[in-house]
Amino acid sequence: MNKIFDLSEKTIVLTGGTGLLGTEYTNALLEAGARVIIADLEKSNPKGKADVLNKNYKNKIFGFNCDVSKEKEVVELFNYVERNFGRLDVVINNAAATGEHLMREGEVFTSFEDSDLSVWEKTLKVNLTGVYLVARESGKLMIKYSSGSLINVSSTYGVVGPDHRIYEDMKFNSLASYAAAKAGVHGLTRWLATYWGSKGIRVNTLVPGGVENNHDPEFIKRYSNRTPLGRMANPKDLLGMILYLASDASSYSTGQQFFVDGGWTAI
Ligand SMILES: NC(=O)c1ccc[n+]([C@@H]2O[C@H](COP(=O)([O-])OP(=O)(O)OC[C@H]3O[C@@H](n4cnc5c(N)ncnc54)[C@H](O)[C@@H]3O)[C@@H](O)[C@H]2O)c1
Repeated sequence: MNKIFDLSEKTIVLTGGTGLLGTEYTNALLEAGARVIIADLEKSNPKGKADVLNKNYKNKIFGFNCDVSKEKEVVELFNYVERNFGRLDVVINNAAATGEHLMREGEVFTSFEDSDLSVWEKTLKVNLTGVYLVARESGKLMIKYSSGSLINVSSTYGVVGPDHRIYEDMKFNSLASYAAAKAGVHGLTRWLATYWGSKGIRVNTLVPGGVENNHDPEFIKRYSNRTPLGRMANPKDLLGMILYLASDASSYSTGQQFFVDGGWTAI
């Protein structure tokens, strides 16, 4: 690998590290030499998943139970990072209550008009307040070394409206609260980029398009037809951008949004 993408000696916190994309990011970051702390809900077993990887990446991978919507747990996460590793170089603000995550938790999707306030509040709390809490606590550590890269993960639906026709008769739906929270992530990124620029901390937004994950074949067909590259993303499609944003390759990029969406937003 080109040295510019080298992540050895870098300490990286990845929230939602046990999920579909988080798992791929973890492997790619470890391969690039980083020390990775995966933070996720206790029930998704970040410690157990880190222990398995630890066999191949000794002292490079750690798991931490953390609900990013709970202030105390986020403070504890970054206290743990400071105590054990001192310096913090990169944070990937990736945890989210996604449509798929909510479906797995038994959430029943209704029309917007019948939607429940509790789903709105839960989504905002994880997908926007959680991103704020993680940014706030990671900034306290990064400021000490006048450097760092914060990667906030949004979605195309934080930028453009969904084509609701592709969700017709599907078990899950695209949620208004998800789009609203992700749009908020863009605002937070820009605010922090101008606020922390003079402190050497870069803040950018990663904007993935839909990633294929055992979706209904009809949904995959509809999504692919709507996408200029003619397919949904594969988790590996995101890795180049993650390595770019985490490494010195992106040393002059801040406050920007980086799309990996197969051209979805170009239409
Ligand atoms: N998969 C896609 O199609 C897609 C598209 C656009 C954007 N994204 C974004 O990419 C990121 C990763 O998505 P994914 O596809 O891997 O989803 P996923 O549902 O597989 O993973 C999300 C992870 O976040 C964790 N999580 C949920 N609530 C949490 C909380 N309160 N505290 C800590 N962790 C919590 C889950 O346990 C899970 O490990 C998300 O921010 C998502 O919005 C995904």
